[in-house]
Amino acid sequence: MRISSNMHEKMLVFKFVMVIVLVVSPTAYGAGNFNAEFEPTFGGQRVRVSGPGGQTLALSLDKGSGSGFRSKKDYMFGRVDMQLKLVGGNSAGTVTTLYLSSDQSTGRHDEIDFEFLGNVSGQPYTIHTNVFSQGEGNREQQFHLWFDPTINFHTYSIVWNPRLIMFLVDETPLRVFRNYEDRGIMFFPKNQRQKIYASLWNADDWATQGGLVKTDWSKAPFTAYYRNFNIDTSINGKWKSHDLNAYTRMRLRWVQKNYMIYNYCTDWKRFSQTFPPECKHGGV
Ligand SMILES: *[C@@H]1O[C@H](CO)[C@@H](O)[C@H](O)[C@H]1NC(C)=O
Repeated sequence: MRISSNMHEKMLVFKFVMVIVLVVSPTAYGAGNFNAEFEPTFGGQRVRVSGPGGQTLALSLDKGSGSGFRSKKDYMFGRVDMQLKLVGGNSAGTVTTLYLSSDQSTGRHDEIDFEFLGNVSGQPYTIHTNVFSQGEGNREQQFHLWFDPTINFHTYSIVWNPRLIMFLVDETPLRVFRNYEDRGIMFFPKNQRQKIYASLWNADDWATQGGLVKTDWSKAPFTAYYRNFNIDTSINGKWKSHDLNAYTRMRLRWVQKNYMIYNYCTDWKRFSQTFPPECKHGGV
């Protein structure tokens, strides 16, 4: 009797400790330490982690180089949230990115992209999104934003599960790209693990009105800030938060109606007769 009640107490203590561990565990809920989860990819000193617990990361770009970082681990599905404050002032020619990518050296890599194309002062950023499967991309949609992304931090999220990819800004979906393999359309990244990447680089040869506006290097260095990331790799039992509901479907329509500036599925000039097959199913 004594022994079993002792065991019972021990089990209770054990369960209690487990609850604490799960609640504060960095992998269960983003502790957001850039030093722990990420590593620089290029740019040397232009990648700077700061703040208590390494919560903020600044990337900068000057004439010498841009900069970037990536996650140490790779992932198979999940949700990534990152707060970003984009390059302010005249940011024309700069591109800030947040994306998932599998190993690019294979030549058949998968990728899920957010790219933020800067603009001349006072003019809107363009958010560029794309999806690659087995090395093939050409699935671009572009948007403007309903706020100035250079004044405050905003949350940019990528949801990735076997059924869909969702791009969100402050919980508002911009785009949902669905897996239509049940209809014979084999274009969806789901067989390769991906890392999280971010970068700031100069792309004034294409980013700004087709290379017309050049980066103003007298404003360099350009800086973009990242903070409070969260990586949630558990997708089981999360189909609800990993798909649209009535409210977010309405928000998606609102964004697509008012802020979409490019959709590959309506680019007749580019594809003439042969649109990518998923275009006829709407949810792209
Ligand atoms: C920059 O601003 C112009 C004018 O508002 C707009 O047409 C363009 O799409 C914006 N974005 C980029 C990347 O140039």
